[in-house]
Amino acid sequence: MEYYIPSRYVSQAALEAADGVSPGKYTVGLGQDRMAFVDDREDANSIALSALQRLLDSYGLDPASIGRLEVGTESLVDKSKSTKTTLMALLGKNASVEGATVLNACYGGTAAVLNSAAWVESSEWDGRYAVAVAGDIAVYEAGPARPTGGAGAVAMLIGPRAPLALVPRSRTTHATDVYDFYKPAMNSEYPAVDGKLSQVSYLSAVDACYSGTMARLGAARLRDAFDHVAFHSPYNKLVQQSYRRMLFNDAVRAKACGAPLPPPLEALAPFAALPHAATMGNKDLDKALAALPVGAEYADVVGPTEALSRGIGNSYTAALWANVACLVASKGGELRGKRVGAFSYGSGAIATMMALRGGEGDGGFSLERMAAALDVKKRLAARTEASPAELLHALKLREDAYGRAGRAPAGAVEHVPAGAWFLKEVAADGSRKYARKG
Ligand code: ACO
Repeated sequence: MEYYIPSRYVSQAALEAADGVSPGKYTVGLGQDRMAFVDDREDANSIALSALQRLLDSYGLDPASIGRLEVGTESLVDKSKSTKTTLMALLGKNASVEGATVLNACYGGTAAVLNSAAWVESSEWDGRYAVAVAGDIAVYEAGPARPTGGAGAVAMLIGPRAPLALVPRSRTTHATDVYDFYKPAMNSEYPAVDGKLSQVSYLSAVDACYSGTMARLGAARLRDAFDHVAFHSPYNKLVQQSYRRMLFNDAVRAKACGAPLPPPLEALAPFAALPHAATMGNKDLDKALAALPVGAEYADVVGPTEALSRGIGNSYTAALWANVACLVASKGGELRGKRVGAFSYGSGAIATMMALRGGEGDGGFSLERMAAALDVKKRLAARTEASPAELLHALKLREDAYGRAGRAPAGAVEHVPAGAWFLKEVAADGSRKYARKG
């Protein structure tokens, strides 16, 4: 795994002050520390190029060793030309590369991973690696959703005998038809959002996917199945709530088979036999879940996945995989033999939970090598803090540029990190040209 994060961020505390909301609304209420942003110098293609470039460079990969390249993004800059085809610029003479770009809100990156793994397992596999790239620029119009923006991209190399492996037959998918978050306007990159509906849809998917995966793994309680859990992270508070929701599912499962609820889940007994609909948006249950004394367990199970997404915000398709990368960066070789639950959610909606397992790796790939390359702490610290006014200026540049051909971006190349790709020009015919800094 490798990843790209922008050079600038705004602090959520500074945003609270600038937006005139009550102190703690974004930092505690949403659980976010910082939000990464870019102006019109970067787009979905450039951040994907930057992530793939890092993957190639960090591991000295031969572009000819890649036989499939699949991308997940929902920050489209073209309704036909895929980001995957733009990334071909990094693969030199190798044109024999399957794969395309997948669209399904924040789920596209997971679809790219699963499709790539399916190819490696298929009769069409030719022995080469697959690469899945997931990346987005999450921006919202002014209002309560804006602090849940962010940006980032992850690139993942997929092949047999990986140091972090998908556990066969652990997957559960939950797909529904819902308008919780969508992008119907062709003249704006801002989504239409029903925030409350998106929370209910997300948590219902946690319930369905978690109970299915627990049944597949034959496990009764979270810790029987997983040492760590990584979630899709629109904002950290929803991750905290999802973890406690999984514990509620453990209580429901125990109650259904007449088993006594183990401590500290007894407090959930009054809710454990309610019909599912009565448990969603149930304030008393939410209070009982928030009061569960599981802070230390949460810090152990989920804590090591959080730093990257709390520091960059929502990166949509990349979010879950950034959290998995953060876990690897934090634990390295300690993940060997450990089981990791991974939950992906994309509005519209589709969600999947799966298990991953840390192992030895092969071909020069190991958890230790991954952790050294990922180095999340150092890369987060190397960024520059910008003011809320600079965020607004960057968003204005993006608004002015959106859908407009025949112009050079107005954002300064100075804000693009060394070694990263940026947008040089959108020609009069709408085609885009990219360049690499340094
Ligand atoms: N101090 C501490 N907590 C506070 C404060 C404060 N000063 N003010 C508010 N809060 C708490 C609220 O009590 C609430 O807590 P709860 O979640 O435990 O109920 C939380 O902050 C959020 O506040 P709300 O008023 O409920 O919600 P808000 O109007 O701020 O909107 C929302 C939040 C819906 C997440 C909005 O930011 C949004 O629409 N975001 C985009 C949609 C999204 O991310 N959905 C998630 C899944 S889909 C996806 O990935 C895009």
